[in-house]
Amino acid sequence: MTKKLCIKTYGCQMNVYDSARMADVLAPLGYAPVDGPEDADMVILNTCHIREKAAEKVFSELGRLRHEKARKEEAGGRMVLAVAGCVAQAEGAEILRRAPYVDIVLGPHTYHRLPEMVARAARVAPSRPGAGLLDTEFPVEPKFDHLPSPSSDGTGSAFLSIQEGCDKFCTFCVVPYTRGAEYSRPPSDVLDEARILAGGGVREITLIGQNVNAWHGEPTKGGGGDWGLGGLIREVAAIEGIERIRYTTSHPADMDEDLIAAHRDVPQLMPFLHLPVQSGSDRILAAMNRRHTADDYRALAEKLRIARPDLALSSDFIVGFPGETDADFEETLSLVRDVGFIQAYSFKYSPRPGTPAAMMEGQVPEPVMAERLATLQEILGRQQDAFNRACVGRVLPVLFDRPGRHPGQLVGRSPYMQPVHADGVASRYGEVVDLKIAEALPNSLSGVPADGAEAAAGGVSA
Ligand code: 5AD
Ligand code: SF4
Repeated sequence: MTKKLCIKTYGCQMNVYDSARMADVLAPLGYAPVDGPEDADMVILNTCHIREKAAEKVFSELGRLRHEKARKEEAGGRMVLAVAGCVAQAEGAEILRRAPYVDIVLGPHTYHRLPEMVARAARVAPSRPGAGLLDTEFPVEPKFDHLPSPSSDGTGSAFLSIQEGCDKFCTFCVVPYTRGAEYSRPPSDVLDEARILAGGGVREITLIGQNVNAWHGEPTKGGGGDWGLGGLIREVAAIEGIERIRYTTSHPADMDEDLIAAHRDVPQLMPFLHLPVQSGSDRILAAMNRRHTADDYRALAEKLRIARPDLALSSDFIVGFPGETDADFEETLSLVRDVGFIQAYSFKYSPRPGTPAAMMEGQVPEPVMAERLATLQEILGRQQDAFNRACVGRVLPVLFDRPGRHPGQLVGRSPYMQPVHADGVASRYGEVVDLKIAEALPNSLSGVPADGAEAAAGGVSA
């Protein structure tokens, strides 16, 4: 009998990937994914610890699930409740203390052991709260060696995790503590997984890692030396069927010459790069331990655009880092104006326990952060709008990966990650289709197939 598995994912693409792999690991045990926790046999919260309140969100969600679990048990059933991801890694013991009805707490490095943990949890009587299992080790055997091959979900697009952890130690960030030291998967493993995905119909692969361009490995063709991400991308591009390649998230200091050259040489590499800069002030960048200046970033953007003239950039920003003055913030605005971003995420600084910045002097008051955030988002929003409007009339290839709101409508992504919807294209799911962009809406675009074939098939006479 199939068992219902509900996985709720918070945070970054790495968690989206991890959730899919947890589902893969549990499939042989008879678990099949469902949307909601109602009546589920197992619920996993895959959590994020990057900013404050993430842990509190987990505890309030657990409070709700506790009732769901009790209901199931009153009816004679059983719900295994697991907390995974970075909150589990950072606060595992605290979770079991505050929520003793949780059965399993596992960190991002141990989910290949889930089947074993589920079997052990099932042997514990449901009425024994406090018997939860905790596995937040950093095991010596890399989990990737123990995971089954990924399955394609039919959308034509897939994440492929090539790197985990981070050695950069930006002073605001918990990742080096929750995800541990930088680890690069061997190139042959990555390429095998890419071939399996391509064989299953995947057209677009997004290589992911916390600091993905720190990836390095031994060239598969021998000859010694070390390969960076540029070398790996060239090999992925050589796989039959791969039409699009992306990678995220990158650190400016790890954009080496070969990776920049890959943007020039590899047509499948999409002309869109998420390259967080965080701040435009050299003083703040130094306090953040970012290892580059604002001008280094400007020069890098320039080099990338020489390599690939249609390349567009996206970024993350933090406002109100300890010690940030109005003048520092102005420098961030000036970098935004100089570089131009077509999309960005911006956050108020949030002190994370155990990180150096949390102990720094000059914490910025909340109202100041709120005002700076609003100013920054206004400018970023205008840049995004301008870019979207400039796309009207252009023909962009769109990979359809979701149904739209209306019958016959599909939504996909342009090369620049903009969501684009089109009508009368239902048969093109999972394909890359050239669309003439008709309209720029606040957060998306709409288009019609450039060849006009589908519109005709949809009943529009010539
Ligand atoms: N406070 C605010 N934003 C943060 N980020 C990471 N840590 C913090 C923090 N302590 C942001 C950074 C990063 C993104 C994933 O989250 O901008 O690039
Ligand atoms: Fe965190 Fe990214 Fe800095 Fe690593 S490079 S410490 S993941 S912000």
